[in-house]
Amino acid sequence: MRKKVTVIGSGNVGATVAQRLVDKSLADVVLVDILEGVPQGKGLDLLEAGPIEGYDARVIGANDYASTANSDVVVMTAGFPRQPGMSRDDLLKANYDVVKSAIAQAAKHSPEAILIIVTNPLDAMSQTALRVSGFPKNRVLGMAGVLDTARYRTFVAEALNVSVQNVQGFVLGGHGDTMVPVPRYTTVAGIPLTELLPKDQLEAIITRTRNGGAEIVSLLKKGSAYYAPSAAVIEMIDAIFHDRRKIMPCAAYLEGEYGINGLFVGVPVKLGANGIEQIVEIKLTSEEQSALAKSAEAVKQLVSVLGV
Ligand code: NAI
Ligand code: 2OP
Repeated sequence: MRKKVTVIGSGNVGATVAQRLVDKSLADVVLVDILEGVPQGKGLDLLEAGPIEGYDARVIGANDYASTANSDVVVMTAGFPRQPGMSRDDLLKANYDVVKSAIAQAAKHSPEAILIIVTNPLDAMSQTALRVSGFPKNRVLGMAGVLDTARYRTFVAEALNVSVQNVQGFVLGGHGDTMVPVPRYTTVAGIPLTELLPKDQLEAIITRTRNGGAEIVSLLKKGSAYYAPSAAVIEMIDAIFHDRRKIMPCAAYLEGEYGINGLFVGVPVKLGANGIEQIVEIKLTSEEQSALAKSAEAVKQLVSVLGV
């Protein structure tokens, strides 16, 4: 039997996630949005691409959750972008309301699903989803680390003029400008990155990675990135559906790991059929640890505004 994925939000990220899912024949898809006709129209358009692309996956669009029942994975991409005159806290509250209501309904119809949260601010919205769904912490994770790491790997590969496939590493922390790329654990075909690039070039790559989302927004003018974010979601779903036990950075609910308690923060996790199979704890220097603590503090401030 084919797997089933509900994608909440049929905007740029949601529709591209749906497209990548069916292109790879990973699952049937239900696209949900509050806009009448839009998820139905995008769903039908994707379905009609099947004969050309050669997939049999079913795609439907909906404005409610009845047809989402028994999904294996729910991807949460619905939300509002920041509008002129809107403070970060206003945006936080607006997206909190969206996540709260959508996840409550999705969780009721798919009580065994794994939730992948994308809506920003990512770490605080993941915490909201955990509380609202009442799901165990291994089945609620946030997508940001795979995206931030993909940006980091792109910039490293560009600087060294090597294949992106040679570059392995990860970015820790919250999805914001306090995120923590870790050059000490970055390798290029097994060679430590710190032996290949001088410090100033490394610093420039770290800064560009931290501003990766903003760089795309400033180019697009309207809206934010969606090709790389949707690819990141697919890598996570692929690991879950194939029980790959692949280690990748995701926002996970920490209860003491890395000295952080009761918060979603990006850390390396082993992803498999049960969602988070293990939180992988690596040794950090005191400098790296304090950068991670600073990033966690930024997440804590948002979470405390919401009281989740
Ligand atoms: P978008 O504006 O293109 O799409 C959002 C969609 O959500 C719209 O179609 C809207 O009608 C829908 N929506 C709003 N309220 C809803 C509700 N209550 N139920 C169902 N649908 C609802 O935005 P885009 O570009 O797809 O981004 C979506 C979210 O993902 C944003 O919060 C963005 O900041 C975030 N994002 C996060 C990333 C990450 O790394 N975690 C990366 C990229 C985007
Ligand atoms: C990004 O990093 C907007 O969070 C989104 O592209």
